Amino acid sequence: MNYVEEINKLKKEKNAIILAHYYQKGEVQDVADYLGDSYNLSVIAKNSDAKIIVFCGVTFMGETAKILSPEKKVLMPHKVLPCKMANDITAKDLLEYKKKNPDRIIISYVNTNADIKALSDCCVTSSNALKILEHYKDKKILYCPDKNLATYAKNKYGYDIDLWNGNCNIHDELTVDDVNKLKAEHPNALVLIHPEARFDVASLADYAGSTKGIIDYVNKSDKDEFIIGTECGIIHELEKKNPNKKFYLLNKCLVCKFMKLISLEDVYNCLKDEKFEIKVDEEIRSKAQKALDKMLELS
Ligand code: 13P
Ligand code: SF4
Repeated sequence: MNYVEEINKLKKEKNAIILAHYYQKGEVQDVADYLGDSYNLSVIAKNSDAKIIVFCGVTFMGETAKILSPEKKVLMPHKVLPCKMANDITAKDLLEYKKKNPDRIIISYVNTNADIKALSDCCVTSSNALKILEHYKDKKILYCPDKNLATYAKNKYGYDIDLWNGNCNIHDELTVDDVNKLKAEHPNALVLIHPEARFDVASLADYAGSTKGIIDYVNKSDKDEFIIGTECGIIHELEKKNPNKKFYLLNKCLVCKFMKLISLEDVYNCLKDEKFEIKVDEEIRSKAQKALDKMLELS
């Protein structure tokens, strides 16, 4: 079966669009109507007129699309695609924290489940976190669950931020030695790192930013070589848009295994059978939407 042809037919028949995160397999990125980072994809989901959205990413991303677009059918090619970081915080623990710290503004990363967003004052993604934290700079803040991004903002700008003990395991594994080793091998390369890396590692970057931020940086740069400190899926788009530039992945650990589970066959079955549909409890959804709308307002 030619999955690409069949997927394109089904998309037209059903008034559906496919959104894919840059960490997806290349073949899935190529069949998507829109590629993006977690921020861009949430905006596209909100503004689209399509009846069906097929979200190729991890579960919190599909859930975010559903929270912002409750009238649309949001489908994902697998029933559950967990994000390690999103599972580093539970509503029970956050509620306990809030009771003990009623004066702290709760800023949650979009890499969280809907119940955490519902308990938050504002959400952020890696592409707008620093801007939004600046908005709250005179407040006492809890930034959850990504300890590394929070440490970056706290150390760089001196904000009053409480840290949560969560992280992304693959970005957290990057080390200063990885950077020094690759810089020695490729002395002319610029270093671009996702801020989910540890502070000492992200501080060595020529640019630290979201996946879309890294792609925009490369597209605009007149340099030819780049060391990439984020998930390997991003290389597909970087090479497509910049065939004459060279990219070196900072460490071979940079593979998000749940992002890589989705195949073209899964996308086809998802559209054909209209499953797996994302459902979010309405009370949680409407509260979570407020935190996401606040993010869109401040972005
Ligand atoms: P972006 O905000 O750059 O899309 O990152 C999402 C993510 O899961 C990074 O690990
Ligand atoms: Fe989550 Fe890390 Fe995968 Fe991003 S790369 S989806 S933070 S586990």
